[in-house]
Amino acid sequence: MRITLSIIKADIGGYVGHSESHPDVLAKADECLAKAKGDGLLVDYHVTKCGDDLQLIMTHQQGEDNEKIHKLAWDTFIEGTEVAKTLKLHGAGQDLLADAFSGNVKGMGPGVAEMEFEERPAETVIIFMADKTSAGAWNMPLYKMFADPFNTIGLVIAANMHSGFTFEVHDVKEHKKITFDAPEEIYDLLVFIGAPSRFMVKAVYHRETKEIAAVSSTQRLALIAGRYVGKDDPVCIVRSQGDFPAVGEVLEPFTLPLLVEGWMRGSHHGPLMPVAVADSTPTRFDGPPRVTAAGFQLSGGKLVGPRDMFADKSFDPARQQANEIADYMRRHGPFEPHRLPLEEMEYTTMPQVMGKLEGRFVDLD
Ligand code: F6R
Ligand code: MG
Ligand code: MG
Repeated sequence: MRITLSIIKADIGGYVGHSESHPDVLAKADECLAKAKGDGLLVDYHVTKCGDDLQLIMTHQQGEDNEKIHKLAWDTFIEGTEVAKTLKLHGAGQDLLADAFSGNVKGMGPGVAEMEFEERPAETVIIFMADKTSAGAWNMPLYKMFADPFNTIGLVIAANMHSGFTFEVHDVKEHKKITFDAPEEIYDLLVFIGAPSRFMVKAVYHRETKEIAAVSSTQRLALIAGRYVGKDDPVCIVRSQGDFPAVGEVLEPFTLPLLVEGWMRGSHHGPLMPVAVADSTPTRFDGPPRVTAAGFQLSGGKLVGPRDMFADKSFDPARQQANEIADYMRRHGPFEPHRLPLEEMEYTTMPQVMGKLEGRFVDLD
């Protein structure tokens, strides 16, 4: 059975501030998707949140980039925004950057990750969702899952993974894409994906079977809007088990609270903290950035789950370490590298301050 798994997400209002989603907004989204399931458009769905982002997880048989599915998501965000406006939530409708739907939500503000595949006899998928960070945050975790034998022992000792994976990388500034084969081309691959604000892993494929293994959202809100309207807060789908890394290999990269862009005003580096869905409440300095993981088994497209994968106690040390790193980074205050370099900052007063002080700058010698 061919199934498409679509995650479409948007921040349509925060409660309180940018720290959480309001239950009434989630309930409205549930109502909209229940209707679409009743009408037969969706096979199944799950509505959840990561911080202030509303996450629509949907299965269907319409394929990727389908207008009906994207319109359903857009209309759901519009209805949710109405609820957010009634409650005067903060930033109601903030990620909806277009006035009207025009065929596909890509480029309109919401983040999208979709993959179509033939459902395996046991189809394990993990959906990662992040808040207060940007789309390149998945680069290091995806590299570790699919190319690093110190993370994924299956690359070494499982015959069905030993030939490696292909990485599709997008240059979001130049609007270009390129693919690299791991393990042969990992040094070339790392030249690019080690610079995650510009080069992002869009998808990963199994080299022998060509099967899709992972897909991420690469929408950069600031590039769409031409100004800061909130961080991208990306999502990523990873297929697991069998020909793909095991669940434990997929989750293992997040034991390192890697430094990502985002946090307060989208303008800082901070540790990515793996948390249970209930703990995706970035509150300290509007952070630190969070990542949640919803695990499902698919059964004829039905979403069996979710299991809240980071609720596990074994991620306590990563959370503890993330809090320690957060303290350390915060002590740098407005200094780099806690503050992002000038060209990456989402907020800046530099032009105004420069303009005001122009006459006071004098040439050296
Ligand atoms: C970061 C984020 C927050 C806001 C900050 C100011 O992605 O969403 O840190 O940037 O709370 O928010 P506004 O400008 O909406 O008052
Ligand atoms: Mg927000
Ligand atoms: Mg958010």
